[in-house]
Amino acid sequence: MTDAALAPAPVLDQEAKTEFPIPANVFAEKVVSVQHYTDRLFKFRITRPASFRFRSGEFVMIGLPNAEKPVFRAYSVASPSWDEELEFFSIKVPNGPLTEHLQKIQSGDTVLMRKKPTGTLVNDALIPGKRLYMFSTGTGVAPFASLIRDPETYEKFEEVILTQTCREVNELTYAKELVEEVINDPLVGELAAGKLRLHTAATREPYPCQERITTLIENGKLFEDLGVPRLDPAVDRGMICGSMEMINDTKAILEKHGLEEGSNASPSTFVVERAFVG
Ligand code: A2P
Repeated sequence: MTDAALAPAPVLDQEAKTEFPIPANVFAEKVVSVQHYTDRLFKFRITRPASFRFRSGEFVMIGLPNAEKPVFRAYSVASPSWDEELEFFSIKVPNGPLTEHLQKIQSGDTVLMRKKPTGTLVNDALIPGKRLYMFSTGTGVAPFASLIRDPETYEKFEEVILTQTCREVNELTYAKELVEEVINDPLVGELAAGKLRLHTAATREPYPCQERITTLIENGKLFEDLGVPRLDPAVDRGMICGSMEMINDTKAILEKHGLEEGSNASPSTFVVERAFVG
């Protein structure tokens, strides 16, 4: 008998049609749609397991059924907690162990998702305030894509200001389309109208605003553009999601303005989360 004949036959999971068995702590879901924005960014939507509950702003671990031990990476859920599907906004990392394959998914393919969501960019981790700032760079906008579609965000804050800074102008398309969609949404639109605003900047291409968010806060241009006072810990709340450096720099500036970092266990005036890459 040959070695091949002795090797166990691949297990075909009938439901998910994958070659490898699906572990008990993992959901196998179907891709519903994929949209590519640039050669670095894409969005995909998957079916939502009936038993999956999460808070808008949380993240999950995503993988592909392409190995015995699949590679998982953290992804913020970009859709709100009431949505029937789950949306994710992803970067394409050249030779990235997951995104190299994930960027090729198509409708009908299977994506794995660990069952437990977690994260600090949630409304519960902030004490009440008047104005919520969401500071994001690149795919760091994903958790905010969830929160700006959640009615609870508008119940808690009078003003919701989403900021996104990207290297290139076309990387801002996802956020621009999304905010437009939210304002025209029959469910959330009425709540968001007059409350939700988007401030965009592109740092490496000509654009009306061509500076980093850290510079824009420090030189006051952000507040001038928005027609609001500078940061005040009595009324302003912040959420930050970007690269480690962006988080550290933005966090230091918020702290200089008197805001304090909070968490699920100890809510305060701002919270942070790293935008994940894989
Ligand atoms: P810049 O073009 O000046 O580096 P990245 O893809 O490297 O995460 O960058 C996404 C966006 O975040 C870019 O516009 C980049 O600006 C900006 N950025 C990078 N590092 C920081 C930082 N430490 N503070 C604020 N913005 C940053």
